[in-house]
Amino acid sequence: MGKTTICASLGTALAKLGARVALVDADITLNNLDLTLGLETSVVYDISDVVSGKCRLKQALLQDPYAEGLFVLPSSHAMRSGGIAAKDFKEIILTLRENFDYVLIDCPAGVDEGFHRAVSASSEALIVTTPSISALRDADKVITLLDSYKMQNIALVVNRVRGDLVLEGEMLSVADIVKLLHIKIISCIPEDDKALMMCGSTPALSLHNQAIVMLAHNIECGTARIFDATAKYRGIVGKIRRKLIKI
Ligand SMILES: Nc1ncnc2c1ncn2[C@@H]1O[C@H](COP(=O)(O)OP(=O)(O)O)[C@@H](O)[C@H]1O
Ligand SMILES: [Mg+2]
Repeated sequence: MGKTTICASLGTALAKLGARVALVDADITLNNLDLTLGLETSVVYDISDVVSGKCRLKQALLQDPYAEGLFVLPSSHAMRSGGIAAKDFKEIILTLRENFDYVLIDCPAGVDEGFHRAVSASSEALIVTTPSISALRDADKVITLLDSYKMQNIALVVNRVRGDLVLEGEMLSVADIVKLLHIKIISCIPEDDKALMMCGSTPALSLHNQAIVMLAHNIECGTARIFDATAKYRGIVGKIRRKLIKI
């Protein structure tokens, strides 16, 4: 659905706006965040080493070489999901909150133990969904679940939107999704092959990155701009683009 990709790209974009950002991989068994940022070979310590006292939190934080102010706390390569107690996880997040402008937690899939651990340590949530029916049903369940936690703010990110399909009536529009889920929208991110390229040494000038930068501004500066994934497919040139995709 794009949680890890968005966490990594949004963290990069916020850091590039001058914020100090910590990314925490809460997907204890799959540890994808360091991989997504291309930092997996630099991992020395991970979250389980912090919990067991093998290292200090500062030692486990990896600094991203391409975005000053961006740090990652990798998840454990070896541990089972249940290996880190919610209380220990929350303590780590509270310490990070004292030292960073933003602490972004990359939530694991599903709504079991790992979800509870991540959500109970958070004060705000971004729900990432795609426009598919199954993803929207899951997002609806997650919104209901989050109501039972003391979240100060919940907002929706609609990922992998295909503007051509929206205009053809084959994909729900962002407006339709907001009506269905009754939730504030903060970002629309288009389907884009260069989805991962916000991070690293040569960020691509892709539509995905434009949408991510808009999201970072909405969070950091309080703007409310939503990327229009259909713009590229409007007008005569846009119609030609749509026809070309179908050929
Ligand atoms: N906007 C997008 N356009 C195209 N591909 C995307 C987009 N967002 C994510 N992806 C791709 O989808 C796959 C799953 O993304 P990931 O971020 O790992 O999802 P999750 O963390 O929710 O499981 C990855 O291959 C990623 O590159
Ligand atoms: Mg993930």
